[in-house]
Amino acid sequence: MTAVSDATEGETGPQERWTAVDRYITDLLVPEDPGLDAALRANDAAGLPPIAVTPNQGKLLELIARVQGARTILELGTLGGYSTIWLARALPAGGRLVTLEAEPRYAELARANIARAGFGEIVELRVGPALATLPELVAEGAGPFDLIFIDADKGNYPGYFEWSLKLSRPGTVIIGDNVVRDGAILDPDAYDPARGDAVIQGVRRFYELLAAEPRVSATAIQTVGGKGYDGFALAIVGDATAR
Ligand code: SAH
Ligand code: DHB
Ligand code: MG
Repeated sequence: MTAVSDATEGETGPQERWTAVDRYITDLLVPEDPGLDAALRANDAAGLPPIAVTPNQGKLLELIARVQGARTILELGTLGGYSTIWLARALPAGGRLVTLEAEPRYAELARANIARAGFGEIVELRVGPALATLPELVAEGAGPFDLIFIDADKGNYPGYFEWSLKLSRPGTVIIGDNVVRDGAILDPDAYDPARGDAVIQGVRRFYELLAAEPRVSATAIQTVGGKGYDGFALAIVGDATAR
């Protein structure tokens, strides 16, 4: 009875299998969309790192936003705007999405991708390090946002969570991408020298803040798929007794 899984995994290894299953799911449940497909092609052509959410993850983000009835969304880490487009699809007429990106070259491409997908009027892209643009949003009285997707540099997730709380209201949903990293979050001494920041320490501190913050109730889920083994955290903001 288990011969299929044993044989296939033995031949191809887990990543090939995860990718094949993502393809199966995506072929059946995630219809092609000209705006989304064009964004991925443009990202590839421009040599952006292939780190956008997968199509089935993007659709999960859209569905979460729709389940919640989100009218205002904040995203940290735009890259080429692929996840931005997924989230923007969830918004009703009059909805707004603000997305923050540090790298001007990525932001320029994202603007084109978002406009081509039909969301140029709905999405506001702010260029700059999010730890600089988040205080500006607070100072302007932006928010509260209904849903906040944290997906920028992982070392700064603790600060992003604190700023997100300032831009939240009871009922705000906060989602954090990349909170498992192949299980590396188990290692408190892990450090990625290629980045010059402390990715794992940042993600671990993010978990600790989620655990300690009385206003949020949170969980995290491990995922496998086309982008390997990683995970999402999901938190809902409540009052001081949310847990
Ligand atoms: N959400 C995107 C992927 C984001 S990848 C998608 O799924 O399609 C992470 C992004 O965060 C990169 O584009 C990177 O340039 C950006 N980033 C890195 N450091 C940042 C910072 N300090 N402030 C804002 N964005 C940052
Ligand atoms: C990286 C960033 C992401 O947001 C992601 O989903 C995967 C990888 C990265 O910076 O390597
Ligand atoms: Mg990510």
